[in-house]
Amino acid sequence: MELLSSVSGSSVLPLTCLFLISLHAWPGADARAKRSLQLQQPQEEVSVSVGQTLALHCSISGDDLAGPVKWLKALGSKNRTIYDQKGYSPRVTRVVNESSTNYTIHISNVQVEDAGTYYCVKFKKGDGQDEVYLSGRGTKVLVRASPASMAVSGPEHRVEPGSSVRFTCTAGGFFPGEIGVKWLKNGAPMTAPQPQVTAGQTNSYNMSSTAEVTLQAADVRSQLTCVVSHATLRAPLMRTYNLSNAVRVPPTVRVLTEPPNPVEVNKTVNFTCSVEGFYPDAVTLTWLENGMEANVGRPPRPKETSQGTFELRSLLEVQATVEKNQSVFTCQVVHDSQSPVSSAVTLQIAVPAADQGASNQSLADKDNLIPIYIAVGVICTVLALLVVAILYLIRAKQSKSKSSPSVRLHEPEKSSGAATQESDPNNLTYADLNFDKEKKSIRRIIEMSQQSEYACIQTSQTPATDDNLTYADLDMVHLSKAPKRPDPHPEEAGSEYASVQIQRK
Ligand SMILES: *[C@@H]1O[C@H](CO)[C@@H](O)[C@H](O)[C@H]1NC(C)=O
Ligand SMILES: *[C@@H]1O[C@H](CO)[C@@H](O)[C@H](O)[C@H]1NC(C)=O
Ligand SMILES: *[C@@H]1O[C@H](CO)[C@@H](O)[C@H](O)[C@H]1NC(C)=O
Ligand SMILES: *[C@@H]1O[C@H](CO)[C@@H](O)[C@H](O)[C@H]1NC(C)=O
Ligand SMILES: *[C@@H]1O[C@H](CO)[C@@H](O)[C@H](O)[C@H]1NC(C)=O
Ligand SMILES: *[C@@H]1O[C@H](CO)[C@@H](O)[C@H](O)[C@H]1NC(C)=O
Ligand SMILES: *[C@@H]1O[C@H](CO)[C@@H](O)[C@H](O)[C@H]1NC(C)=O
Ligand SMILES: *[C@@H]1O[C@H](CO)[C@@H](O)[C@H](O)[C@H]1NC(C)=O
Ligand SMILES: *[C@@H]1O[C@H](CO)[C@@H](O)[C@H](O)[C@H]1NC(C)=O
Repeated sequence: MELLSSVSGSSVLPLTCLFLISLHAWPGADARAKRSLQLQQPQEEVSVSVGQTLALHCSISGDDLAGPVKWLKALGSKNRTIYDQKGYSPRVTRVVNESSTNYTIHISNVQVEDAGTYYCVKFKKGDGQDEVYLSGRGTKVLVRASPASMAVSGPEHRVEPGSSVRFTCTAGGFFPGEIGVKWLKNGAPMTAPQPQVTAGQTNSYNMSSTAEVTLQAADVRSQLTCVVSHATLRAPLMRTYNLSNAVRVPPTVRVLTEPPNPVEVNKTVNFTCSVEGFYPDAVTLTWLENGMEANVGRPPRPKETSQGTFELRSLLEVQATVEKNQSVFTCQVVHDSQSPVSSAVTLQIAVPAADQGASNQSLADKDNLIPIYIAVGVICTVLALLVVAILYLIRAKQSKSKSSPSVRLHEPEKSSGAATQESDPNNLTYADLNFDKEKKSIRRIIEMSQQSEYACIQTSQTPATDDNLTYADLDMVHLSKAPKRPDPHPEEAGSEYASVQIQRK
């Protein structure tokens, strides 16, 4: 102790001074530590999908230095601490606890907001606050996000068939920005312009695609589908829009009258209002009698048809009293808050028949008697024609018997030599027959009469002069005395001879 104190008493001061001097004259100790301490942040860029776990690597080598290692994330003009050894967020954890070299962290259940640049920073203890000592070069994190909040929207108000309507498909929060959009109508592809991709919330994109459709009444059952494909998706995303939400098909309104006009007095008339082919089913139906509302109670609910549209029938029963003659019955329909559609009929009451049964009977008879009337008419016409024909024949006969002296009978003793007649020993009589010279093919009618002595051969015209007469050769005209002979027949058309039967008194 004494020795120590003696040694110290003589040499402690200079040693201490040397030590202190050496300490102060050697400031390179700090710089040497800094040189030897190295920080590696090997990832330049990392891509991770939403929901996955992100690993950010950082390692430190060389001499240790008091002060924490933290993970910072650049956020606008500020750096925000993500991990500082004490645990900042339950999603962020160190992979190797208590390690002085491996500062790798995991960020679980990555969200779109996690995209950004991350820095691994070594701090050194400062007087009050820690100071940045070394900083990694930063890791850029890209979060691959599937299109989210996808929706298809149509017109704000329903439109009627024939109108062209724009439908919009939107999706947001996806990354990267390449996206495919297709439209289908009832499963069939439609043409649509390229989707518009815009920057959405932090580090993600939004998409908007528009398709135009001309609506038809049949579209009540149609569906429009927006199909989105993206690198993050295993199967395309689909959203369907029912065109029934966009279309309004107005109804057709008709009033049917049963029995039809005009109606017998005091009968019950059924007016049926037929409202057809409308969509949606929101209708109110009102009956008006001469403009005044007629109460018919609750009308039945509209019924859906196979086309997807609706129909409705409302019955109004009316007693057809004389006072209601010419009354106007109107069916008024208000469909989907549109202006009313109406149809009207005027009740016509027939003048009452004196006796309903009789009128019924006569009506029935009228129907049954028509064929009989026709038959009677035909018979009467035929009879009238017959009478006319008979009258004509009688007149013709009378006029012929007056003016047909063209046949003369000659007794055998009266015959002259120059004439062509010859005397016949068989007690025959010859006849002179006059014919018109010009007409060779004369139609001959031989009239026979049992009482007559004369044979009458009609020629077309009575000859004017003797020059125009021709004498027939009557060689073959055989006048028989026989009381009964078979009915004569006119000769064949080619024959020049006529047979004339004369019965003598
Ligand atoms: C955030 O920290 C990194 C690393 O230390 C640095 O390079 C960057 O300039 C900082 N940014 C801001 C806004 O402070
Ligand atoms: C790391 O430390 C935390 C809390 O100190 C603990 O919950 C976790 O289980 C540890 N991890 C490992 C791999 O030891
Ligand atoms: C740090 O630890 C993680 C997990 O064990 C490992 O994957 C990584 O390679 C380590 N880093 C270094 C630099 O050893
Ligand atoms: C992007 O889309 C999301 C949801 O789809 C929406 O909330 C956001 O406002 C959109 N941002 C822009 C800039 O359009
Ligand atoms: C579209 O129509 C189908 C049936 O046709 C129905 O099941 C579905 O709920 C409808 N969707 C919408 C959004 O109206
Ligand atoms: C119709 O009915 C009214 C009242 O019921 C009656 O006075 C009238 O005679 C009836 N008319 C006929 C043609 O039956
Ligand atoms: C009128 O309607 C009622 C009720 O549906 C029915 O009983 C009656 O036969 C109908 N009358 C006529 C003329 O159609
Ligand atoms: C109903 O009115 C029409 C037209 O004015 C008329 O011809 C008919 O005779 C009227 N019927 C009755 C029953 O009065
Ligand atoms: C009138 O004829 C109709 C059918 O044509 C029948 O239903 C009705 O009973 C008849 N009325 C009378 C009074 O004969």
